[in-house]
Amino acid sequence: MYKKSFAFALAALLSGHVHAEMTHADSVNTGKQKSISCVSCHGEHGNSTMPMFPKLAQQNAGYLVNQLKAFKDGTRKDPIMATIAMSLTDNDMVDIANYYADQKIAGEPEEVFDSAEERAEHETLVAQGGDLYRNGDLKREVSACIACHGPFSEGNKPAAFPALKSQHATYLVKALTDFKSGKRSNTNENMMHMIAVKMTDAEIKAVATRISTMKLREN
Ligand code: HEC
Ligand code: HEC
Repeated sequence: MYKKSFAFALAALLSGHVHAEMTHADSVNTGKQKSISCVSCHGEHGNSTMPMFPKLAQQNAGYLVNQLKAFKDGTRKDPIMATIAMSLTDNDMVDIANYYADQKIAGEPEEVFDSAEERAEHETLVAQGGDLYRNGDLKREVSACIACHGPFSEGNKPAAFPALKSQHATYLVKALTDFKSGKRSNTNENMMHMIAVKMTDAEIKAVATRISTMKLREN
């Protein structure tokens, strides 16, 4: 008995996202059950194949919980997700987040090009986006994404900064455009608004394209 509760306490301490009465593995298993209704849009194991529906696989649990809470309390606005989040309790959110954090994100399919020009255009876009991701734009004070989202776009778990790697470019463009316009502003600090507002639409497209090609890394 003593041993068991010690293990629980330790698991809770390490992950920060386990409720008192459950082990991490129990939470993940429960989360799998609770996420059945998410599959139609977010895909099997959170690997959505539709460009407007974000992949949730391997996303940081803390970030996922924050977003679900924000959909529920209306600070992040999306009509579909508002209705869905309304039906989830705090424990549901934790279990579902632990489940998705435990999955492996699938890479985006290789791009198919009709011509050498098209391929060259794509490669230029990826190079420009990679430069912005790593270095930002000092003159215009666009912060380097790497500082918060990490060298492999794996995010930052303790800070609940999201992983971005292998996410659909279409969804990334939408997210950045929503930050830019102020439509998405569910955190007090509003860091992403301050950054996106300085980006041109071309830069948004370039960086989103680059991030979508970043592949899975163990982290
Ligand atoms: C009918 C489609 C649909 C279903 C079903 C659905 N979602 Fe979503 N979800 C969306 C869309 C669309 C977005 C993107 C919203 C936006 O653009 O801001 C989203 C966004 C999210 C996000 C934010 C991801 C991020 O990277 O910021 C989370 C978390 C999420 N959904 C969790 C869930 C969970 C958990 C379930 C099941 C309980 C679920 N969704 C079911 C359509 C759906
Ligand atoms: C100072 C830290 C910081 C920097 C620098 C930063 N981000 Fe973010 N980013 C965040 C945080 C925090 C969030 C989560 C915001 C929220 O919860 O609403 C986020 C969210 C995002 C999202 C939404 C992810 C999703 O799944 O919906 C995208 C896309 C994104 N950032 C792209 C970028 C890009 C591109 C850059 C570089 C040009 C960048 N970020 C630089 C902190 C940062």
